[in-house]
Amino acid sequence: MWKIADTEIKSRVVLGPMAGVTSQAYRLFMKPFGVGLSFTEMISDCGLVYENRNTFAYLPNEKSDRPVGLQLFGSKIENAQKAIEIIQKANITYDFLDLNFGCPVHKVTKTFAGSSWLKRPRELAEYVTSIVAISDKPVTAKIRLGWDREHINVLEVVGLLEKAGVSAITIHARTTEQMYSGKANWSLIENLREKMSIPLIISGDIFTLTDAVEAMRITKADAVMVARGAIGNPRLVSQIDGYFEKGIIMPDATLREQIHYLRSFANLLIEEKGEKTSMMILRGLAPHFFNRFPGMKAIKNKIAMTVYSKVDLEAILESIAI
Ligand SMILES: Cc1cc2nc3c(=O)[nH]c(=O)nc-3n(C[C@H](O)[C@H](O)[C@H](O)COP(=O)(O)O)c2cc1C
Repeated sequence: MWKIADTEIKSRVVLGPMAGVTSQAYRLFMKPFGVGLSFTEMISDCGLVYENRNTFAYLPNEKSDRPVGLQLFGSKIENAQKAIEIIQKANITYDFLDLNFGCPVHKVTKTFAGSSWLKRPRELAEYVTSIVAISDKPVTAKIRLGWDREHINVLEVVGLLEKAGVSAITIHARTTEQMYSGKANWSLIENLREKMSIPLIISGDIFTLTDAVEAMRITKADAVMVARGAIGNPRLVSQIDGYFEKGIIMPDATLREQIHYLRSFANLLIEEKGEKTSMMILRGLAPHFFNRFPGMKAIKNKIAMTVYSKVDLEAILESIAI
């Protein structure tokens, strides 16, 4: 058990925010596998200020999994302040306000949001201090190692964030320049948690239980964040949680179990987003449920190309010989 501010987190596994993936349905689906804390996908402060309907759909509601961090991104304190006011007045159910300083996508960094903040650590510190002062909820932050190899400033930024009053920090152990490729470099933050006064969550390349154990051992983090590794492989969360809570090593899920998991996820998604949008999302995510199994290429392609209704999906799942 560990804590962020006064909230107890009951697992060492944190579900990473992923734009286009970590909907409320995805989070609710993943929770019972042993997720201790999850995050919404990044939500634009301007989207809230300018009342964009799509942006509001990302906010958690009373049916959301808990504890949940609401992740905001933006580049100006005035917009962040207005967005936080809107969230606080709207009585949204959430536990932490998470600030995104890690997004490497050009569309975001060119507006000075996401990981472009890492290039301006002093301004970042002022921004965070102002947000901590107005937020009703504990503030957390997600960063990267730095902008590029020549500008690794993670230690400086962690120090500034602590001073600014954040309650936990997640580090994606890559630079912005690396985007999502190349190896995550956990050893650059070796033993970092021992020098910190607040919890550390380590992110980057957590695809197996061994990755999780290694990342925790090297950094001494309180928890690991799983992101891409759990898409279509929710058992990864149970394996990591089972190991850290009870010292057990769970086997990988069978094909039958994977089909069952996919059905549950599809149902939750349809409940949240309706059939049409859900099928669009599932054409992207559902094939991942069959990644580990040989001979499934045709099934994966069929899902990716031909699923437009729940009936289409069901027909394919029924056709899988187990
Ligand atoms: C499709 C996708 C969308 C992402 N969206 C977000 C996001 O909205 N906010 C955020 O902080 N990180 C986001 N991330 C980063 C992940 O949370 C995580 O830190 C990163 O993928 C590294 O972990 P991994 O190598 O285990 O996947 C995203 C990653 C992916 C692949």
